[in-house]
Amino acid sequence: MKFSQSAALAFAASALAAPSTTTHQKPARAVGCASAVTLDASTNVWKKYKLHANQFYRKEVEAAVGQLSDSSLSSAAKKVADVGSFLWLDTIENIGKLEPALEDVPCENILGLVIYDLPGRDCAAKASNGELKVGEISKYKTEYIDKIVTILKAHPNTAFALVIEPDSLPNLVTNSDLTTCQNSAAGYRDGVAYALKQLNLPNVVMYIDAGHGGWLGWDANLKPGAQELAKAYKAAGSPKQVRGIATNVAGWNQWDLSPGEFSKASDAKYNSCQNEKTYVTKFGAELKSAGMPNHAIVDTGRNAVSGLRLEWGDWCNVNGAGFGARPTSETGLDLADAFVWVKPGGESDGTSDTSANRYDSFCGKEDAFKPSPEAGTWNQEYFEMLLKNAKPAF
Ligand code: GLC
Repeated sequence: MKFSQSAALAFAASALAAPSTTTHQKPARAVGCASAVTLDASTNVWKKYKLHANQFYRKEVEAAVGQLSDSSLSSAAKKVADVGSFLWLDTIENIGKLEPALEDVPCENILGLVIYDLPGRDCAAKASNGELKVGEISKYKTEYIDKIVTILKAHPNTAFALVIEPDSLPNLVTNSDLTTCQNSAAGYRDGVAYALKQLNLPNVVMYIDAGHGGWLGWDANLKPGAQELAKAYKAAGSPKQVRGIATNVAGWNQWDLSPGEFSKASDAKYNSCQNEKTYVTKFGAELKSAGMPNHAIVDTGRNAVSGLRLEWGDWCNVNGAGFGARPTSETGLDLADAFVWVKPGGESDGTSDTSANRYDSFCGKEDAFKPSPEAGTWNQEYFEMLLKNAKPAF
């Protein structure tokens, strides 16, 4: 068919006009921004972007709501689905969650992702041992990190915040007496540096996990901890998009309770970081001297209630816990960019089944909620408890 240019324009115009009268198509959802996103990691990006309420957590929460018969609890529970939280890419297979999660992120939101699949993962505990064995570092690079990089590069119009490998470098600082952590060490250092280097994209801001005040906050751990993180940052070539650290991930510490929760413990004199606010401040100062960016995001997803843990190191499904502060950039501390929800509240920290392969004794302690399913699996009763104990209430 051959027609003049004006005929072609008239044809195009009628083709464009046609759908509104003949069909009822849904308006296209706004996905990402109209142009490429550039995050300036020398500023607090949370002032501009809101943590996205990702659809995976939303679906978990909606399923939980369906199980509630109490109408006031169920209307409170529905609101949890709208809280922004991080999506955990905890296996190669779960990278498959990323594309669908991208589909409903508006321009004003930032999608939070947890990078969590190092070889020999969770070297000092058992509950979250991962799929990659010690030595499988090239698999980590090519089948895990590179795959995520490809997807993030294909979505330059969306903003991403990444938490890099919870617990990994902190374990190298404090658990180097364990053979498992000695075996994991080289892969952790190489893997974290590789992740930081490859994920250093304009639409990404990164925070390296730094444990919490009851971990690297001990006086003797502050400096070595900051040096360990700074070493990974420098090994990656000091990537521009690294903003600092993530603290209290899947943790229970109070933000600014004073005196702190464990300040009466016999060893309290060895830890001047009795709450997260002090930890972010003191560890931040050490990071600065070690030559690494030092701003922090702090997980407040489950820290509403204090006084529950028998010991500061207790980390598994703490009984009596409640949802904490909602994500916000109003932290009251310049070094703390934002409170965020990293651990999806309701997902287990580890199984209480003593016969399971990944059973860790911490999940059997007196202060741990039982029964609890495998790490990452939904626990309806635990979710309901978090909801009932939430501060502020839903
Ligand atoms: C634990 C699990 C992991 C899960 C995460 C978030 O670390 O090991 O599989 O994705 O928690 O619930």
